Amino acid sequence: MRAVTPALPKLAPKIVRWQRRAGRHDLPWQGERDPYRVWVSEVMLQQTQVATVRAYYPRFLQRFPDLPTLAAAPQDAVLALWSGLGYYSRARSLHRAAQCVMAEHGGVLPHGAAALARLPGIGRSTAAAIAVFCFGERAAVFDGNVRRVLARVLGFDGDLAQAAPQRALWRRAEELLPARAVDVYTQGLMDLGATVCLARAPRCDVCPLAGDCAARRAGRPEAFPVRAQRAQRQRRAHALLWLTQGARWWLVQRPQRGVWAGLWSLPEFASAAELEAFVCGWPGTGQWLPPLEHRLTHVDWTLQPLHWRMPARGAAAAARMLGPGRWFAIEDALALGLPAPVRRWLEAAPRCAAEPRCLRRPESRACFASAQAQSATTFLSRR
Ligand code: ADE
Repeated sequence: MRAVTPALPKLAPKIVRWQRRAGRHDLPWQGERDPYRVWVSEVMLQQTQVATVRAYYPRFLQRFPDLPTLAAAPQDAVLALWSGLGYYSRARSLHRAAQCVMAEHGGVLPHGAAALARLPGIGRSTAAAIAVFCFGERAAVFDGNVRRVLARVLGFDGDLAQAAPQRALWRRAEELLPARAVDVYTQGLMDLGATVCLARAPRCDVCPLAGDCAARRAGRPEAFPVRAQRAQRQRRAHALLWLTQGARWWLVQRPQRGVWAGLWSLPEFASAAELEAFVCGWPGTGQWLPPLEHRLTHVDWTLQPLHWRMPARGAAAAARMLGPGRWFAIEDALALGLPAPVRRWLEAAPRCAAEPRCLRRPESRACFASAQAQSATTFLSRR
């Protein structure tokens, strides 16, 4: 773990000049100085691409324009507007932090990276970004894009999955901070990482740091940051009960911990056999639908849905068997925090019912549910 090049005093001015000339200037949160709004943008950007955040950010702020409004909202309303962004613990922490700021800071986000980093869901890098953009504090952002730029330009060969090398590079990042225009410099580092110093096929020909870059001099920029062996991805499989009665859906709220924590979803079973045993004897008809593949951070998750159409007379008994959960009209369900695949089903179902022709267009994502139903096998049909 060592930087190949010594100090690089000219780095910051080059980054600042490049950002002003060729960086991004049209991001919806740019130029924003309201710490609440910058905080929301930085939390959304933690694990999500800019292109996705562009759509979610204005919607979220329209519904929760300030911190007191967010703090006073029910968790379900917050999760509903986060639905599809993934990593829902971010939304729960944002909500909890807003309540904490109301209770302990008089409704005003503390100024300064160190104080911000004590709030739920605000790590050191996010705290630095808020402090840089809102208060002009000299603090080092250290997200994935910034790490890549710095590791390459410095030729830093430590494994950033390990705590000690990560601390060492972060220290270098702090040493490189300029005395002025730290906001433009930080944005420049982010922009370089997102548009020039790409993980694969970096565009060194247009990089303002090409002449300073140790990784480029070594002829292998893509070899930085150095990666240790990655953990094996895991596989997981469950069955889901998609229970409908007329235009109503049965949904359950998932536990506050684990995957899709706190979201409303379809009841989950350990296996198809367990689910079949559960619905055995129910009135109505059931169809196994083709499995749905869902990718989580470290897990490939196969979800095998069983669509059960329940007649009105069986609805109350089924609800008793299922325990906690509720029937929802589709419009009401759409206002909840739902996992993205469940939301897609809900959104597709009414439209497809109104337009049977869409069964012949399985490539249409909106008609996902109907397309799957078409190719499904009916496994049970009673009375
Ligand atoms: N990633 C994290 N913060 C960002 C920001 N403010 N602009 C663009 N990308 C980001």
